[in-house]
Amino acid sequence: MPNSVKIFNKIKNFNCTVKNISGDKSLSIRWALMASQAIGRSRAFNILNSEDVNNTLLALKKLGIKIKIKNKYCEIHGKGLNSFSYKNNITINAGNSGTFARLIMGALAASKNSLNIKGDKSLSSRDFERVIKPLNLFGVKINSKKNKLPIKMRGSNFLRPIYYSEDKGSAQVKSCIMLSALNTFGETTIKCKKSRDHTENLFKYLKLPIKVKKKKNFEIISIKGKKQFKGFDYKIPGDISSASFFIALTLLIKNSKILLKNINVNKSRTGILDILKKMNAQIKLKNKKFYKGEPIADILVKSAKKLKAIRCNSSYNSRSIDEFLIIFLICAKAKGISYFRDLRELRNKESDRLKIAINFLKTIGIKVESKSNNLKIYGNPNLKLRKKIIVKNFKKDHRVFMMSCIAALTLGGRWKILDKDSINSSFPNFLNILKYVGAKIN
Ligand code: S3P
Repeated sequence: MPNSVKIFNKIKNFNCTVKNISGDKSLSIRWALMASQAIGRSRAFNILNSEDVNNTLLALKKLGIKIKIKNKYCEIHGKGLNSFSYKNNITINAGNSGTFARLIMGALAASKNSLNIKGDKSLSSRDFERVIKPLNLFGVKINSKKNKLPIKMRGSNFLRPIYYSEDKGSAQVKSCIMLSALNTFGETTIKCKKSRDHTENLFKYLKLPIKVKKKKNFEIISIKGKKQFKGFDYKIPGDISSASFFIALTLLIKNSKILLKNINVNKSRTGILDILKKMNAQIKLKNKKFYKGEPIADILVKSAKKLKAIRCNSSYNSRSIDEFLIIFLICAKAKGISYFRDLRELRNKESDRLKIAINFLKTIGIKVESKSNNLKIYGNPNLKLRKKIIVKNFKKDHRVFMMSCIAALTLGGRWKILDKDSINSSFPNFLNILKYVGAKIN
């Protein structure tokens, strides 16, 4: 089977309900990590079955954690904080997952055997200084070349609490520090730019000693360490980052409607909904409820009538960090010039998404200008393609692949998109759901 797809037809209009957007990746990985530190049995229902999560589970097993995959749930038997048991110098593989690699480093901060962490080619080119710096302050020893994977680390029995100022708006950095703080006597304080707050919500649900003070542009989080907690069950809701491809598909196809059931709509993740509403999109949340500190809803989307450009200031950046590629595609079809500011963090993802987005938009005939990580997109509501387009060399970035499929299904043209397997990182069901909605894909 070729590892590429061919798309030669736009999708026809549709009206459907999708009940099986895959489980949220951030929550799946966080559940597994927290369950591994809890005492007793934890179960996760609807845990994302993808490479990033499977690598998380495999690595935790290698660290001595008992894990069983049952028919309806995944079960972890934890033995408490820092109860990993493994031989000196083992290697765990984070694959493509920046979230797992960075968070496990925090969870291992008090672990005294040394170990190696490696990742795939894309993860090995990403920055780890962002977590090495605070972990060093705690007292963790880390060796790496140029602050990249593979790294060797050894935790310490004598961690000291830290004060750290996190200025990237990275939930991975914040969560790494929070996990390390759990293993440290005393109080750790993080001043951080706002970012997704799933780890805070889990800490609160588990009644761990955490205080969060919300200020206008930042937050102060304090955590007192060494409190044990019990195993817990969790029903993982759908992932808004995966749902966003279907939101875009619906907006860009006339006379269509979609209901995406049971999606996590945490405010720190829904920047895309706010941006699209400002662009004139018709999006409604139905059946909103709270589950263990996380808001969940069904998302109803109708085709957009007249999409208009957006001036997107950087306060949206962290809230829509994984959705920018698909947002840019929607801007390509909107009337007017869209502006985005300070997109530097996009360069640190599975690929340099800013560079890839600029090349992609130019390839589909859209004028773009970019200076110092700002971006201007000259939208064209009449954009239609007939030409042949090959999408390749995108470092197997799953979100580039999925965005390209949505472009092919909404703009026309004859597309070949390589590295289909990339979807296995976050959304293995993506192509099946697209076909269910009516896409013709070879
Ligand atoms: C994630 C945080 C974000 C996001 C990533 C998942 C998380 O990364 O891009 O896909 O689960 O914490 P940063 O925290 O580095 O911005």
